[in-house]
Amino acid sequence: MIRRYDFGMPMETGAVVETVSPSQGDVPFFTVDKLGPRFSLALGADDVIFGLGENVRGINKRGHIYRSWNSDEFAHHENTRSLYASHNFLLFYGEDKLFGAFFDDPGALEFDLGYTDARQAVITSENGDLSLYIIQGDSLTDIVEQFRKIIGVSYIPPKWAFGYIQSRWGYASDAELRKVVKEHRERHIPLDGVCVDIDYMQDYKDFTWKPESFPDMTQLNQDMKQEHIRLIPIIDAGVKEQEGYFLYDEGVEKGYFCKKEDGSNFIGAVWPGRSLFPDFLNDDARRWFGEKYRLLLETGIEGFWNDMNEPALFYTPEGLEKAFDEAEKARGQNLGIDAFFALKDIFGQVANKPEDYRSFWHDFGGKKVRHDKVHNLYGYFMTRSAAEGMEAYNPDKRHLLFSRASYVGAHRYGGVWQGDNTSWWSHLLMNLKMLPSLNMCGFMYTGADLGGFSNNTTEDLLLRWLQLGVFTPLMRNHAALGTREQEIYRFGMQEDMKNILTVRYALLPYLYSEFMKATLGGKCMFRPLAFDYPGDKRALRVEDQVMLGSECMIAPVYEQNARGRYVYLPEDMLLVRFRSAADYDLVPMEKGNHWIDLQLNEMPLFIRKGCIIPLSRGGEWVDDVDFRSLTMLGWADEAAYALYDDDGMGKNYDLEKNTRVITLRGGEAVGDGLTLKNAVLKA
Ligand code: NOJ
Repeated sequence: MIRRYDFGMPMETGAVVETVSPSQGDVPFFTVDKLGPRFSLALGADDVIFGLGENVRGINKRGHIYRSWNSDEFAHHENTRSLYASHNFLLFYGEDKLFGAFFDDPGALEFDLGYTDARQAVITSENGDLSLYIIQGDSLTDIVEQFRKIIGVSYIPPKWAFGYIQSRWGYASDAELRKVVKEHRERHIPLDGVCVDIDYMQDYKDFTWKPESFPDMTQLNQDMKQEHIRLIPIIDAGVKEQEGYFLYDEGVEKGYFCKKEDGSNFIGAVWPGRSLFPDFLNDDARRWFGEKYRLLLETGIEGFWNDMNEPALFYTPEGLEKAFDEAEKARGQNLGIDAFFALKDIFGQVANKPEDYRSFWHDFGGKKVRHDKVHNLYGYFMTRSAAEGMEAYNPDKRHLLFSRASYVGAHRYGGVWQGDNTSWWSHLLMNLKMLPSLNMCGFMYTGADLGGFSNNTTEDLLLRWLQLGVFTPLMRNHAALGTREQEIYRFGMQEDMKNILTVRYALLPYLYSEFMKATLGGKCMFRPLAFDYPGDKRALRVEDQVMLGSECMIAPVYEQNARGRYVYLPEDMLLVRFRSAADYDLVPMEKGNHWIDLQLNEMPLFIRKGCIIPLSRGGEWVDDVDFRSLTMLGWADEAAYALYDDDGMGKNYDLEKNTRVITLRGGEAVGDGLTLKNAVLKA
């Protein structure tokens, strides 16, 4: 059951696509202080709070304060309150609580989840204009399904986007990209895509490329496709201020950029220096920008990543001017310690300034709306712009798209990557914890920068991170400019890393099938253990293992120098200890706590007793994987697996038509049109 309560003048964010009429009367569960408004709720000692999508800290979000305000939080850590996305859906779960709450408010929201007072959750809207949806149901899964139904079916990428993707900020030429591909292919390291970061552009101008470094983009794409590789260029939100640059000229002429209150164009600086920001919230501007993706699509590009769309602002001319004035005042002074630190901070604080976000306006639904009121929609509407542009270019074909900033609603148009993480072991664990939370909020196609984005990775960190990446729909190794080179072939342990990638490709039939079933069914592919074992108090507190699909649980190693880890099995499970697609042990294990030995080159997957999952022989790219010749793994005698598959390109997602059931009877697996072998331990 879903009820909606409106406060002030809620915006039409488009997050919810099904009609839910507003209810009158008191909001259940919360005490509402109309000034604010502020929503408070007493927390029982054992209550947990799931949700909030992309954020730091636990799967259980209790005990911290979060702020929904899309932020360029390069170098985020445990105390960071806002990341790149705002996913305002929470699940409250405890002895007397089982409900979901979605705060559809595109401005800043504060979620004080037992931070100020451990016994209380207090949620405050800074705008005061919002719709609150309260969702009640029989179980956590049921509530998520109801929520996902009203927000609409999540984005589905092409099948090739489930392959391994190599990325680096710094790839700058045709020759360099070819080399990256060659190094992978020569060593038979599987690969399906290479992300091309800002250095392909001419002066960081969207939809341009440097003619001297990319003399023939169409030829390059053709050659890459011969190698079964797709190039995935980045597109940034900011448009360089430069007369003669077509995007700038057109946007200025049509009035499609965000404006200041006096009607002049708002300027903020990003990679190209002074830039203008397309008003993605304006339908015409959004369509105009989306149409431009065609310029790269026509060269054979089939996917993009959208960046800096919080939007990030390095500075505004006004902000910078003020900073110079302030700094000037300090010149020649005998600075006390406070004044010195204030001086130091002056330039440190010119980026992403709250007052700058209050200084420009959108034309949203025919109304002039100040940016800060709708800040969290900007990345979402940029994603929508790109998705609509690609859809218009080729309506029958899926395209790859993932974004940095997002809001619920963006999940229908593209995926997200988990932002600029750091090459820290703690971030490997943090990225694992984000997976179920993102899924609850509709973001299914997701993954982290494997190996870590900023700082230098280590071989073992990359290897362990790949062992998590094996399971994430977006499996991308990405690193920042100036950091240690992070391609697999740079490392002594490359053979082990390659072997781990073979596991990814062998598991593709399973991963793709589970992704599609979860996405189409409004379910989570990744879930906290509590979803599947509701009465199990120990499972409720597990923060470093998550359920994967209907049959499995994952528990990656996330500590340096570990040669194994403790796991909690909420039921009997079969441990598959993978070294490669062809080399693994099957170990039946009983419910309970266990220590599992895992050498650096080994990664675990747990299959629930009584279930079977398909394993292919793998391949070096997605289309090289035979989805029909499968080995069934499991600990069962009688079992069934519903395998979803389709052509991976078109939009015929019919669950029933595209699913075949593989049954196991007396230890023999049978499935229509499939070649099946068994690696099944009888129960
Ligand atoms: C910020 C993005 O988060 C990162 O992935 C990218 O490499 C840099 N921008 C440069 O484009």
